[in-house]
Parts: sequence; structure tokens; C-alpha cells
Amino acid sequence: MTESYSPGLEGIVAGETAISTVETGLTYRGYAIEELAEHSTYEEVAYLVLYGELPKAGELAGFRQRLGAAAVVPPELIETLRRIPAAAPTMDVLRTATSMLAHFEPEAADSSHAANVRKTERLLAKLPVVVAARQRLKSGQELVIADTSLALPANFLWMLRGQKPSEKQVKAMDASFILYAEHEFNASTFTARCTVSTLSDLHSGITAAIGALKGPLHGGANEAALGVLEEVGSVERAEAWVRNVLAKKQKIMGFGHRVYKDGDPRAVYLKRLTAAVAAETGHQDFETMAEIIETIVWTQKRIPPNVDWPCARLYHYFGLPKDLYTPLFVVARVVGWSAHIIEQLDNNRIMRPRSIYTGPAVRKWKPVGNR
Ligand SMILES: CC(C)(COP(=O)(O)OP(=O)(O)OC[C@H]1O[C@@H](n2cnc3c(N)ncnc32)[C@H](O)[C@@H]1OP(=O)(O)O)[C@@H](O)C(=O)NCCC(=O)NCCS
Repeated sequence: MTESYSPGLEGIVAGETAISTVETGLTYRGYAIEELAEHSTYEEVAYLVLYGELPKAGELAGFRQRLGAAAVVPPELIETLRRIPAAAPTMDVLRTATSMLAHFEPEAADSSHAANVRKTERLLAKLPVVVAARQRLKSGQELVIADTSLALPANFLWMLRGQKPSEKQVKAMDASFILYAEHEFNASTFTARCTVSTLSDLHSGITAAIGALKGPLHGGANEAALGVLEEVGSVERAEAWVRNVLAKKQKIMGFGHRVYKDGDPRAVYLKRLTAAVAAETGHQDFETMAEIIETIVWTQKRIPPNVDWPCARLYHYFGLPKDLYTPLFVVARVVGWSAHIIEQLDNNRIMRPRSIYTGPAVRKWKPVGNR
């Protein structure tokens, strides 16, 4: 076999998948994300990603019923969430909580296809509970019990704020979750697949993926993108700020993508919904600031925004704390990661690439006194 090297594995095909592709726009199991975001709910899309087909009515009802029943976490975990210092980032807390959930998972040791599907459903239901509970405990509020009559993203907003979200907010939240649900062989998905390729378990794969997603070059970009807008601060400062940053060759978080060089279809779709929520919540200034930055980055560098650029604003308009944005990405993506873990294990070969050695040539060992 010929060996090839590409920094950052750019252009390297590292596996096969039937879950999604970026070749013809972004599609999940053959369906365009725009169509899914327009007509489906997140729960339908989660089912599609996990099971391979859109659910029939009875299948969807059963799925929703199972998610509702699993939307609780052990009291020991709530106690841990209470004890972790308030300054700990929610992403770190979520990573710990995911690992801890494995200790209470009755099928933790069973990595069969069927058991992994069941474990995925339970994680999907439990992670929003963890994020909402941690946020409320941190801010000295009583916990809000899940309302299983609500869809998963709306239920998250309910558990977090103790108020039912408006229809427009539910639609926008749902769409953001759909667009975050799955994305082929990105860094966190690849991490999850690598982890289980050793025949490790699903919770280990997901915990590792959360660690990979956290970085600002990947999922952490949605929190960093809001940081950009906070730093800019006003419409009047936007143009000078962006020209200065580009002149210094610094990166602007929320822009650029390894694969989408002409535009991220998720960003294009979410921009319209985000603008509608901005109008409803009185955030027109933020939209104008974002538009100025977007136009200049495109004109000067031909770099388009990615999904995190509108999503950061959307979550800000909902009044969500910035520290929850990447955890929300996790809540939406856990189904994509799990589907990849299951696909990897269905046809597994351990991931073991090679490296080009750049260290010293072979040399003679010397006793400590002669070094
Ligand atoms: C996503 C990302 C990591 C892709 O990286 P990549 O394919 O390795 O591309 P590179 O980092 O090599 O960038 C290529 C060129 O575009 C520039 N560029 C890429 N992203 C940029 C950004 N967000 N702002 C300004 N310039 C950027 C780089 O500086 C580089 O310029 P150069 O050729 O003059 O040195 C990169 O675009 C980035 O860091 N974006 C910001 C973080 C982000 O939003 N991540 C979320 C992705 S969904």
C-alpha cells in the first residue's frame, strides 16, 4: 500500500459512511438538510440519523415515549453537578456527566448494535436534563422537571427557563438542532469512531467526542463567535474592527470551513430564521453588525460564515448564556456521533495510521553521569 501524508488529514478519505454526505450539499440519509429543517422536527431527524429511515407515525410516537421516560438523571449525578465549582465551563461538566452516566447505564458493557441504539436514546434524553440542571443549580434556582409533552428542544428551553417557549422560538431551536445533528467525518465524529474502533464502549466514544468538540476551531466556535460580536460591541465599530483583525491575519471565529469553501448550507438556512428571531426580540443591531462583518470578510478574503455564526446569534436572542452554546451542540450532535459509533462497530477495523518520523537518528544510550 502507498503511504501519503496530508497535514490535518485534508483530502484524506478515512472511512465509509451511509449516514450523511457533504458531496451534494449536506444530506442526512439522502434527505437535504434544508428540506428536513423546513418540514421535520428534530425528533424525526434524530430517528432518521439513528435508524436510517424517517419514522412512521407509530414509530415516532414510540420514540418520543421512550425519550420522555428516559428524561431523568440519577440523584448522584445531580449531587455531582451541585458540587462541581460554579466556574467550571458547562462543556467540561457535560463531559464529566456523560462519563458518569455510564456508571448508571444498565447496558454499559453491551456493545451490540441493538444495545447501542437503546443507549443512544437514553443519552439523547438525559443530556438536555444535565445541561439545564447544571445551569439552574449554578444560578441557585430550583430544578424544573421535564415536560414530556414537549419536543426535545422545546423541553430543554422549558427545563432551563421554567417558561414555555413561543412557537417561533420552538421552530428556530428545532431547526438549529436539526442542522447540528450530524456532519460526516469531522474532528469529533472521527474521534468517536477512533475510540470505539478499539472495541471501547459508546459512552467512552461520546465522552471523547465532547472533548474534541469543545475546541474553538470546532464546536467551541459558536461561543467564540458570540465573543466576536460582544467585542465589536456596536454597529459603528464593526467595519474598523474587522479590517484591523484581517490586516493582522487573525482568524474570526464563525468563518471558514475545511470542506465548504463557497458557503456552509447550514449557515445559509439558519441566517433567515435568526433574522426573524432578531426582529421578534429586538436585536436588529446585532444583525447589522454581523452583516457588516460577513460582507467584509467575504469581499476581502472570500471566506463565508459557517453554521456557528448565525447559531451564536440565535442562542443569544433566546437569552441563553454563552457557556451553553457548545453544550447545546453536543445535545443535538450526540445522535450523529452515536450513529457513527454504531456504523463503525458494525464493520470495524481498528484505526491505526502511521506518522513521518522527524526525531533524532538512532543513537547510543549513555549512563546518567556521561550525558
Ligand atoms: C474551520 C477552520 C479550522 C478550517 O481550517 P482549514 O481548512 O485548516 O483552513 P486554514 O486554517 O488553513 O485557513 C486557510 C486560509 O484561510 C484563512 N482563514 C480560515 N478561516 C479563517 C477565519 N475564520 N478568519 C479569517 N481567516 C481565516 C486562514 O488564515 C488561511 O489564510 P492564509 O492562506 O492566508 O494563511 C478554519 O476556517 C477556522 O479556524 N475557522 C474559525 C473557527 C470556526 O469557526 N470553526 C467552526 C467550523 S464549523
